[in-house]
Amino acid sequence: MVNNNTIEEEKITSVQSPEVKVQVRGLTKSFGDLLVLDDVSFDVRKGEFLCIVGPTGCGKTTFLNSLTKLYTIDEGEMLVDGEPMDLKKHDIAYIFQEYSTMSWLRVDENVSFGLRIKGYPEEVIKERVDKVLKMIGLDKYRHYYPKKLSASMLQRVVIARAFAVEPELLLMDEPYGQLDLQLKYKLEDELLRLWEKTGTTVIFITHNIEEAVYLSDRILVLTNKPAKIKEELINDLPRPRDIADPKFVELRNRVTELIKWW
Ligand SMILES: Nc1ncnc2c1ncn2[C@@H]1O[C@H](COP(=O)(O)OP(=O)(O)O)[C@@H](O)[C@H]1O
Ligand SMILES: [Mg+2]
Repeated sequence: MVNNNTIEEEKITSVQSPEVKVQVRGLTKSFGDLLVLDDVSFDVRKGEFLCIVGPTGCGKTTFLNSLTKLYTIDEGEMLVDGEPMDLKKHDIAYIFQEYSTMSWLRVDENVSFGLRIKGYPEEVIKERVDKVLKMIGLDKYRHYYPKKLSASMLQRVVIARAFAVEPELLLMDEPYGQLDLQLKYKLEDELLRLWEKTGTTVIFITHNIEEAVYLSDRILVLTNKPAKIKEELINDLPRPRDIADPKFVELRNRVTELIKWW
């Protein structure tokens, strides 16, 4: 049988180091009387792929919006390399739940957007955009406008835009929630390859337990609202992972039980 899908065959090894990259301390957030985040604290290691799972409505998006200071928080702090997180200083990329491309910009312009905001010189922008478009297989489409592209290509543009800034921290909020299963698996594998290649630290939020077990080095399970960390699970299953492997199923079931019983 011919297998032309080589991505799954590639061995991906974790790039995490023992060094702590991100520290979240006592993050607390309410909207009026509604307490959504209740004293959330954890560390992320450099190069680690951390997944945070929790039921819909538990406060996952609020959590990421608080991290990036889109929301003002009531209490707590976030440190990157021991210093308060500063979007001007640290290279942090954020892929929103309702991700989108800018329809009026070509693929290469979409990808270079963040670099221009940061004021990089033109030659650096060109070099970064070329590199990331090649890595993600969008090179041929660099002059296309988004309306000519399929859902999977649009998602790649968003990922390319995030990786173009060579983020030290990549925050992702259910980026594949709206995609069909086949495509989701393909993009997850692409994401793992980019992660391995670049060594970026990832915080990936999802309500999809299988996705968390497939991607992560470690899983934080959140409680229902107000969200607290219910449990932390180390995920050292070898990659590429097989969703039918008994060890995979065992971990998936453990997370499912944790989410099911409050
Ligand atoms: N801007 C807001 N104003 C008021 N309530 C909000 C706001 N954003 C989120 N919430 C509430 O916070 C809770 C958590 O929402 P959210 O963080 O979007 O959950 P999740 O991403 O886990 O599905 C929900 O009850 C939601 O209604
Ligand atoms: Mg959400």
